[in-house]
Amino acid sequence: MLEELYYFTRERLTAAHRPRVAHANPLIFDRAFCEQYIAASRLSDFRIIQAFVLQRALAGIPAHGEALDVACGPALLLGELARRRPGVRFTGVEISRAMLLLAKEHLGRERIDNVELIEGDMTDLPKVLGERKFDAVTWTFGLNYCPTPEAALATLDAMAALLKPAGSCFVVDLARFKRDETWRWLAEKHDRAHGESFLKETTDSYLAAFSLAEFTQLLQRSRLSGMLSEWSYLFPMLLLAHQQQAVRASPPAPEHPLLPWRERMKYAALQAIFRWTAVRSPL
Ligand SMILES: C[S@@+](CC[C@H](N)C(=O)[O-])C[C@H]1O[C@@H](n2cnc3c(N)ncnc32)[C@H](O)[C@@H]1O
Repeated sequence: MLEELYYFTRERLTAAHRPRVAHANPLIFDRAFCEQYIAASRLSDFRIIQAFVLQRALAGIPAHGEALDVACGPALLLGELARRRPGVRFTGVEISRAMLLLAKEHLGRERIDNVELIEGDMTDLPKVLGERKFDAVTWTFGLNYCPTPEAALATLDAMAALLKPAGSCFVVDLARFKRDETWRWLAEKHDRAHGESFLKETTDSYLAAFSLAEFTQLLQRSRLSGMLSEWSYLFPMLLLAHQQQAVRASPPAPEHPLLPWRERMKYAALQAIFRWTAVRSPL
């Protein structure tokens, strides 16, 4: 905890951001990487972040209707959303076949049957989804994969066009750190243990993530105006944005995440840190 405080305080005291470096194009996600990704997602600190994201995402999803999860990966989060909203038909869009296969296996194993998976490019959602409309759209840890800010803006605009009039939208991603020392420390601490390709991928994501200012600007310029963006200086690696209406309509969902008791303390701490230190900008 002291280490976190040291690195995150130094981040806070640093003014300038390093420039963004986009992911390699095309992305190569093989089965081995996807399995490392799932193994990492099951570990303590990732689970706590996932539980936090799950609660925030659920707050915008109604009890009935249609929901879209963009860049759903192995459907770990999507599966949990679908399990908690059995009256909603979910669609997951994902570009990697290896991820889609694992998602299919995961949903089958968990007997979750209210999810349809579609292979497609998130930066071309109109082509993938045509005229379909959704009550809620979620986009978790996919934004940093956009090759350019223009592609990110086009994706946000496409998400806005896919929403029903009272629909809600939730976006979360890593925030780019200002100091190389910070992401190197995190990568060593959390990511190296999961294998070389996982380490390389997460390092690439730390560098390809948008900063809070860039994220806020994208939201302001997009057709999803009216979103609330949030960021915490005590936990500076997460950027969140909700369509305002969703936040107004429902506070974080009461469902308790499935965490072992030891992790609940950390989870409660993360919730509290966010609540007390979040920088909020209504756009
Ligand atoms: C870090 S994972 C996040 C997965 C999931 N949303 C979650 O929160 O666990 C990022 C995912 O984005 C997918 N992705 C990257 N570029 C994409 C694109 N252009 N279209 C669709 N999916 C994409 C990757 O294949 C990967 O599964």
